[in-house]
Amino acid sequence: MRKKIVAGNWKMNLDKAEALSLTTDLVDALGALPENQRVMVCPPSIHLSSVGEVAAGSKVLEVGGQNMHQSGSGAYTGEISGSMLKSYNINSVLLGHSERRAYFHENNSVLREKVDTALALGIEVIYCFGEMLEERENETHFDVVSSQLKEALFHLEASQWNHVILAYEPVWAIGTGRTASPEQAQEMHAHIRSVLTQAYGAECADGVSILYGGSVKPDNAKEIFGQPDVDGGLIGGASLKTQDFLAIVAAMS
Ligand code: 13P
Repeated sequence: MRKKIVAGNWKMNLDKAEALSLTTDLVDALGALPENQRVMVCPPSIHLSSVGEVAAGSKVLEVGGQNMHQSGSGAYTGEISGSMLKSYNINSVLLGHSERRAYFHENNSVLREKVDTALALGIEVIYCFGEMLEERENETHFDVVSSQLKEALFHLEASQWNHVILAYEPVWAIGTGRTASPEQAQEMHAHIRSVLTQAYGAECADGVSILYGGSVKPDNAKEIFGQPDVDGGLIGGASLKTQDFLAIVAAMS
């Protein structure tokens, strides 16, 4: 059975003291989770080691990376590799976030390589994708999303989908305070699951967690997470505030 997941994407926010304080507060506040729920934070890579050490004191708080390079090692100044993540016990990574696509020119073809590198190392992939505003307005959003899935992921074997989480993040809803309505989220998540079903069959598609991201806040999380094909959220701004993030975690139940 697929799990419900709330993951915080801290993006390029928080200095060391702030990152450790937020992590400590989360570790202290998070009690045991139901077996079908997971909670994760994805700090900037410079904090992964220290945040990981604090989170290790919790049975429930997981830590993931925000990005990794597709190559194993080499002359890629400023980048980090999957084996570096593994060496710090980081076993999950966001790939394909719209900010990586927009500002660092990541496309589906590079993301396909990153996905393969991560999975080969045993790193779980949280694959982010979603349409831009003009694509929704000209009604190509379903096609765009299908291509983002097919081009980066549909070469995988069915068994590899046990290590892939999807995060649908419409670009027009990220950091804008404008969220997809629960109906819009459900409509797209159902589309994503049906594309997966066509390619891999219902059993595989039913097992994949599909998170929604884009201005999820304590006051809208419950309704969005209540949709049948929404399995939690990838949270930006609200993951930087302890009480807001905890309220969103609570909205999974
Ligand atoms: P916001 O929650 O700030 O809209 O960010 C969403 C996001 O990009 C998470 O990856």
